[in-house]
Amino acid sequence: MITKCLFPVAGYGTRFLPATKSMPKEMLPVVNKPLVQYGVEEAIEAGMTTCAMVTGRGKRTITDHFDISYELEHQISGSGKEAYLASIRDVLDKGVFTTVRQREMKGLGHAVLTGRPLIGNEPFGVLLSDDLCINNGPGVLAQMAELYRQFRCSIVAIQEVPEDETHKYGVIRGESLKSGIYRVDEMVEKPDPADAPSNLAIIGRYILTPDIFDILQDTSPGANGEIQITDALQTQAAQGCVMAYKFKGRRFDCGSVPGFVEATNFVYENYYLQD
Ligand code: G1P
Repeated sequence: MITKCLFPVAGYGTRFLPATKSMPKEMLPVVNKPLVQYGVEEAIEAGMTTCAMVTGRGKRTITDHFDISYELEHQISGSGKEAYLASIRDVLDKGVFTTVRQREMKGLGHAVLTGRPLIGNEPFGVLLSDDLCINNGPGVLAQMAELYRQFRCSIVAIQEVPEDETHKYGVIRGESLKSGIYRVDEMVEKPDPADAPSNLAIIGRYILTPDIFDILQDTSPGANGEIQITDALQTQAAQGCVMAYKFKGRRFDCGSVPGFVEATNFVYENYYLQD
């Protein structure tokens, strides 16, 4: 059973400036819920009730969001607005929230390594809240946790992307074992379309085995001069096994304005209006 999920939430949201000048991008609301809460709910649904946040300077509102707001609760309990309390209490009651600060931005691999003290020596999930995933059925992390029981090795979620977009992603090449499941042979971070080994792109959901931490410690900076989780996973794949999984559901790239707007419309039409 995987009980912990790491949330790297230290990054800057430059594409959303000025909105993200003093507000973390993870707190941008898709309709009425911050992006990071969608991620936390997905992790909790998968049984990963310990949510380990790798935060940074200027990210305090994320930790506040997953704590009691005493004054707010006091004000609205017993009033006509009490029903709203459920939407904030539910996630707090089900989860445990731990944090560590990443002092320097040295890449996603570095963020994962920074989270090591919160994870320890057990397999864990990683969720990038920029990638909002919605499925009519088990969420993506729940699907991957199920797969982990079978393979017992690191797993990355993948999706086919247009060939001219490979430079935005980690891209894999793998041997197809059965429908939607690949054993990874190679992975490259942000390849130019001409160098990409396929159009199967990694999206922000991972299950990692804890040996990844020692590998990360020995991983040199790669693409963009940053320590890349993709490079560490490539080492893991070469030493043993990494699987890639074409998840069921829709993924919205909420790290970009068009993806964020698309997610907002989708959630508004399919969830908010249906309530
Ligand atoms: C990160 C990873 C990349 C992955 C992507 C998914 O990149 O490094 O391999 O494909 O997330 O969203 P970022 O989007 O942080 O640049």
